Amino acid sequence: MLFSQSKLLPTLLLIIWVFFHTFCLSQNVIEYLPGFPGKLPFKLETGYIGVGEKEEVQLFYYFFESESNPEEDPLMLWLTGGPGCSSLHGVTYEIGPFTIDFLNSNGSLPSLMLKEHAWTKVTNIIFLDQPVGTGFSYATTPEAFHSNDTYATELDYEFLRKWFISHPKYINNPLYIGGDSYSGITVPLIVNNVYRGNEAGIKPQMNIRGYVLGNPYTDEFGEANEVVPYAHRMGLLSDRLYHSAKVNCHGNYINVDPENILCLNDLERINQGAPLVLLYTWANNKFVRKTLYIREVLVLTFNFFFVVLSYTMNYGHDDYELTYATVKGARPPLVR
Ligand SMILES: *[C@@H]1O[C@H](CO)[C@@H](O)[C@H](O)[C@H]1NC(C)=O
Ligand SMILES: *[C@@H]1O[C@H](CO)[C@@H](O)[C@H](O)[C@H]1NC(C)=O
Repeated sequence: MLFSQSKLLPTLLLIIWVFFHTFCLSQNVIEYLPGFPGKLPFKLETGYIGVGEKEEVQLFYYFFESESNPEEDPLMLWLTGGPGCSSLHGVTYEIGPFTIDFLNSNGSLPSLMLKEHAWTKVTNIIFLDQPVGTGFSYATTPEAFHSNDTYATELDYEFLRKWFISHPKYINNPLYIGGDSYSGITVPLIVNNVYRGNEAGIKPQMNIRGYVLGNPYTDEFGEANEVVPYAHRMGLLSDRLYHSAKVNCHGNYINVDPENILCLNDLERINQGAPLVLLYTWANNKFVRKTLYIREVLVLTFNFFFVVLSYTMNYGHDDYELTYATVKGARPPLVR
């Protein structure tokens, strides 16, 4: 027998490792997407960039070039929250150029359609799967799956430096960092890293102009509890269901007494929200993953939330929650 079973596994792993490391810095232009009729009317690139001491963290990104004037339009790095929410959520349900066409989709391969108000019409946007373990990003060692706010955002800054090195034509575009939800914690930290890096003379110097946050995370209970009244104000919940929940849950929709069946029933009806299922189906389709050049490494099933194995929220804390107001050293843009 050539290989005992105990030798076979490490050998196989080594072969897989060598295989993946031959395309460490990958950049792929994608012209067609499964579910989208015809050629994409914008430039889409996907890729992995290795960060960390031994590039043990491989971060996946989607880059959409601005449909207006990519040479001069702003460049934005966009993060989604979680931590652990795939940036594909940003692409489809937030500011990106396409979304799922629910009306014309069935369970096998959901259809895609263009979004009228996509920010990519006037902005170059990098949608980043971060921290490690999110979306299609992965680590090459088990230890490297551990992460936290400060470390993850250092890696995001390293990602950005390397991205600029491999895409030098965007270095003079006005740079913005943006994100939603948990990015209320991470975006200011990245902006801080960029400012500090610029001041310390780290190359490439970045033309940082500002940052943008949508529904940024600041206060856990207040924000989560406000979802129900907000949904009512926006006309997403009927008066009847909202008032029933308000009375039955005594205005507290988060810490619910498990015996309070009336409240739980109302919350169950309230939570029957938008169907994300079709997007899971699309992102888990083999053909889609091949088209996006996804490395089938440790990435198992695509899911939006809480796929991050080990993440410590070490930045925000109870008595100082408005972290998005705390970027240090913010000042007028660099003079070039
Ligand atoms: C789902 O949609 C695809 C593409 O439009 C079509 O080819 C397929 O037959 C549909 N499947 C079902 C079960 O309706
Ligand atoms: C954050 O994570 C890094 C990498 O795993 C680790 O070295 C560091 O000690 C962690 N910091 C905190 C405050 O947990």
